[in-house]
Amino acid sequence: EKIVLAYSGGLDTSVIIPWLKDNYECEIIAVCVDVGQGEELTGLKEKGINSGASKVYIIDAKEELVKEYIYPTMKAGAIYENEYLLGTSFARPLIAKKLVEVAHKEGATAIAHGATGKGNDQVRFEVSIKALDPNMKIIAPWRIWELKSREDEIDYAVKKGVKVTATKDKIYSMDRNIWHLSHEGGDLEDPWNEHNPDMYEMTAKLDETPDEPEYVILEFERGVPVSVNGKKYSPLGLIEKLNEIGGRHGVGIVDVVENRLVGMKSRGVYETPGGTLLYKAHEALEHLCLDKDTYHFKGYVAQKYAELVYNGLWFSPLKKALDAFVDKTQENVTGMVKLKLYKGNVIMAGSYSPYSLYDKDYATFGEDEVYNQRDADGFINLFGLPLKIGAMVEKKNAGK
Ligand code: ARG
Ligand code: SIN
Repeated sequence: EKIVLAYSGGLDTSVIIPWLKDNYECEIIAVCVDVGQGEELTGLKEKGINSGASKVYIIDAKEELVKEYIYPTMKAGAIYENEYLLGTSFARPLIAKKLVEVAHKEGATAIAHGATGKGNDQVRFEVSIKALDPNMKIIAPWRIWELKSREDEIDYAVKKGVKVTATKDKIYSMDRNIWHLSHEGGDLEDPWNEHNPDMYEMTAKLDETPDEPEYVILEFERGVPVSVNGKKYSPLGLIEKLNEIGGRHGVGIVDVVENRLVGMKSRGVYETPGGTLLYKAHEALEHLCLDKDTYHFKGYVAQKYAELVYNGLWFSPLKKALDAFVDKTQENVTGMVKLKLYKGNVIMAGSYSPYSLYDKDYATFGEDEVYNQRDADGFINLFGLPLKIGAMVEKKNAGK
């Protein structure tokens, strides 16, 4: 029997390998999906084999993450609880998809992951696996085994002869990909504690950012970014470029107490430097190009979309239907936005679109030919009629 394991090379998933072999008499296929976690990938194959896996896959899914997960979410304008740009949330279904693909290729009957029983990630992995293969068995060691702490894990690894390099204590629970980096745990568990900017890895600390502002121009076609400062980039290259620019100016730090799907609140610090620029510019272009009703309605969709993504329902019918709506709204979201970055701030500095619905001839405070101010008379009379009638009734009854 074969089990596919979502493998990162960290302590948790390294210990899971001998534990699975002990408890299921199986062969372990370790799968690391590269979503841009960076340096953690070097030496991973050897590490997996040394920990007892019979095979280690490293699958580059970075471009797919940008095109199929980041862009749809960004086009929807989805932000969880007004703050969180969903960087971990939408990476999980993609990882699940790759795990299922390898499981099918290898003829594996089960998929194991290292997410704890207290978090969102377990839900996202497992709901996605069920959607992609309803018969796949799922094993979540953290919900089964007796190991309670990192010390327990290290002891177990030593007992099983597996080398783990967990010498210095990991302070935060982090999750990194090309879109973001999240920090949870440690001193963040008290919401009164200010987070320490030393933790930043994608973002400059404010006191180390340039003293001069920098302008960046983002160009979109149908809601999708295509160039930065006039230069075309691949989807992945574009995110990397924006991370570099935004990160340099300390942009995109979020520190928030959020509601997890499994009931409790948790506190996290997120770094999303490039993503913050992208969301801001895209939103600005929609202000220019979308009609009022569509723009307003899209706000409801954004909220629902964020909930679906956060809650692991990426492969749900509603999510697909909302994508169709969002794509329809993006047909004219083409143009350019200029942003000014300074000390963590992103300041709107200009927008342009050939499809802009903004018309200076109508909006001008100067003299104009096209807008007859007398039309407003009748409009206001009818628009205000319900309030006027309500006030008259109230007045009539006031003396009784
Ligand atoms: N709270 C965020 C979310 O639910 C981040 C989770 C980070 N996960 C992790 N394994 N460190 O999407
Ligand atoms: C975990 O519990 O595995 C990480 C945090 C989360 O999933 O929300």
